[in-house]
Amino acid sequence: MENVIFRRRSIRRFFDKPVEQEKLERILRAGMQAPSAHNNQRWEFIVITEQDKKDAVSKMSPWAGMVANAPVSIVVLGKHNDEELNKWFAQDLGACTENILLQIAEEGLGGCWMGFYPDMDRVQMLKDFFNVPDGVIPFCVISLGYSPDENRYVDRADVSKIHYNKY
Ligand SMILES: Cc1cc2nc3c(=O)[nH]c(=O)nc-3n(C[C@H](O)[C@H](O)[C@H](O)COP(=O)(O)O)c2cc1C
Repeated sequence: MENVIFRRRSIRRFFDKPVEQEKLERILRAGMQAPSAHNNQRWEFIVITEQDKKDAVSKMSPWAGMVANAPVSIVVLGKHNDEELNKWFAQDLGACTENILLQIAEEGLGGCWMGFYPDMDRVQMLKDFFNVPDGVIPFCVISLGYSPDENRYVDRADVSKIHYNKY
């Protein structure tokens, strides 16, 4: 039970210490390794490091306060201009987001997923603030950084949720 899948936790407190660019790039590359419907890879990212932008995004959701204090936050966005692929948007971006969270833990950092899509008020605030073009939707925000808190395993396995061959 030692790998990052089991240890990853939502971490919301961060030291005032920058994240190395090579770590950040590996984290983003991990996101781009995710599976996606028809292998469409429609994800894009806005990396936020400027304090005025962190402050603004931290106010766009009641649960996003930690963005103001994280050295880096990533807005995960998805292109959705193909009707056939639209319906898989949330699954593609969810897989991408989880990959990012796992790589954050692998790098010895802490991170937290903040839900924006499908709350369209929050989505619109991000779109307006970053001038995101039509056909691209912000999906979530992930804050990351060095933290006093550790990724640590909690046992959530519940065998009553597993059904073999019939419900
Ligand atoms: C879709 C989604 C949206 C979430 N939104 C927020 C959020 O806005 N703010 C926050 O602090 N945590 C958010 N979380 C983190 C959850 O609260 C967290 O994953 C859950 O409590 C389990 O804890 P763990 O991540 O430490 O295992 C979100 C998680 C998911 C999957």
